[in-house]
Amino acid sequence: MQKVERPPLLLHLAGRGDRICRAGILGLALTLLVSSLAAGGEEQKRLPDPQRGREALLTRAYLPVAWSEQTYHSVWKVWGLSEKPADFEERFRDRYGLHPAPYPNDGLPMGLRYTRGLLGRGITVDCLLCHAGSLFGQSIIGLGNASLDMQALFEEMFAAQGVKQAAPFPFTQVRGTTEGAMMSVYLLRLRDEELRLVAPHKFPITPNLCEDAPAWWLLKKKRTMYHTGSTDARSVRSIMQFVLNPLNGPDYIKSLEPTFADIHAFIRSLEPPKYPFAIDRNLAEKGRRLFEKHCASCHGTYGPNGSYPNRVIPLKEIGTDPWRVQGIPREAKEFYARSWFGQERDAQGQPLTLREEIGYQAPPLDGIWATAPYLHNGSVPTVYHVLNSKSRPKIFVRSYRTGVEDYDPVRLGWKFQELDRPPGPEVPAIERRKVYDTSQPGRSNAGHTYGDHLSESDRFALLEYLKTL
Ligand code: HEC
Ligand code: HEC
Repeated sequence: MQKVERPPLLLHLAGRGDRICRAGILGLALTLLVSSLAAGGEEQKRLPDPQRGREALLTRAYLPVAWSEQTYHSVWKVWGLSEKPADFEERFRDRYGLHPAPYPNDGLPMGLRYTRGLLGRGITVDCLLCHAGSLFGQSIIGLGNASLDMQALFEEMFAAQGVKQAAPFPFTQVRGTTEGAMMSVYLLRLRDEELRLVAPHKFPITPNLCEDAPAWWLLKKKRTMYHTGSTDARSVRSIMQFVLNPLNGPDYIKSLEPTFADIHAFIRSLEPPKYPFAIDRNLAEKGRRLFEKHCASCHGTYGPNGSYPNRVIPLKEIGTDPWRVQGIPREAKEFYARSWFGQERDAQGQPLTLREEIGYQAPPLDGIWATAPYLHNGSVPTVYHVLNSKSRPKIFVRSYRTGVEDYDPVRLGWKFQELDRPPGPEVPAIERRKVYDTSQPGRSNAGHTYGDHLSESDRFALLEYLKTL
């Protein structure tokens, strides 16, 4: 367990000196005043709109400047190079696991964007850092980013900016995953129920969640969301946790609710990408029958009359890694429920209740071929290995690139190389994070043994069917 204590304002996302922080708050307060005057009353009543949500997501920043433009252009110095490489942008994406933006973004990859701060134009991060990826050279908004090394990105950008401050806890333990939920707990520690900044609550921070971000196109099918099904899937406030940067004031955050209702509507409008290679239709039909027999009770049925049962399977029964279910401190959950986030109501005025975390939600499997690695902690590299638990690699590494050559169309997922032992402490951390060691806390690949009794030919029939979803 790692104990973290620091002054509330000196936070990772801001990561600058105290003096600038104070100036930033002043500037922000002014901006807030102006924008809340501009927002007016009519915004509150409008219906959520996916097209507006797309705009809100792809053209606006919700966090203050984290890094100067100069920092971005000089970060190669931290890589140990003596001059800026000609293919800098590509190397930047490759090093941190980012993908080209399929919308105007001034040359920055998805997940980063320019914004205006007190000291001029700078760079910040957005939702697409974790919620956009690529496949076979095509960028996909809403695909969880399974390549990201958020720890390296933040550590090296701050180093390039000359800030010696270490992150308050690792944002990424293993590449392709993040400590997403723990970041929220960390940011929530600094607020009271009405989101005013206070002396930090004493919630313990234990960053072993190793979370794989769910694909956004699944949200429209869900009644409850997040890996544990803890939250009503209609909740807008809960997807705003990421804007809890200490430089964002309570009024500003609350004023964004209608904007995030639009973003929520946009997320619900997304469709999964189609499997791009050949499918054997006869084999897929055999797979469909097997699926309905062995899998549909939890994962639902598909096609025009399909239905999704939205089941949360208790930890004891599913047997996958317990950290995400048990790792969030009870005090933090109770505080969240009492806070502005937990006090949300639907259009009829009914409270959106939070559920006890007892296990994992069986997700819809639409576009499952595209969302490797699997399980909530990304501990299983292919769908085949989900269906054959004894064959799962214990320690493995993959390229973290997303080209055709990195994809395994037979087992549906990422090609990987199994290792005998984890890399030693002499290996640089950025290389060590590429190795998935399932013996580490939060990273177990156990459980979900529902395909173990099937024959190999039945497994491949199931895989063929899953390609059609
Ligand atoms: C640091 C990475 C990261 C960032 C940035 C991030 N998310 Fe997430 N998001 C996650 C992870 C991880 C989960 C799964 C959380 C869990 O279940 O514990 C998630 C879950 C979600 C879900 C629920 C999906 C489901 O089907 O259960 C939605 C919706 C979502 N995020 C929206 C957003 C929005 C909107 C933003 C920007 C304001 C955002 N996220 C920023 C990592 C991130
Ligand atoms: C008893 C309910 C149950 C049954 C039966 C079941 N699953 Fe699952 N499945 C789950 C749960 C719960 C998860 C999420 C576990 C986690 O992430 O820790 C899951 C996860 C998965 C995943 C990974 C999803 C992802 O996005 O990472 C795949 C693929 C999958 N199941 C396929 C199948 C197939 C195919 C069958 C039939 C052979 C099947 N499951 C049977 C409950 C079930």
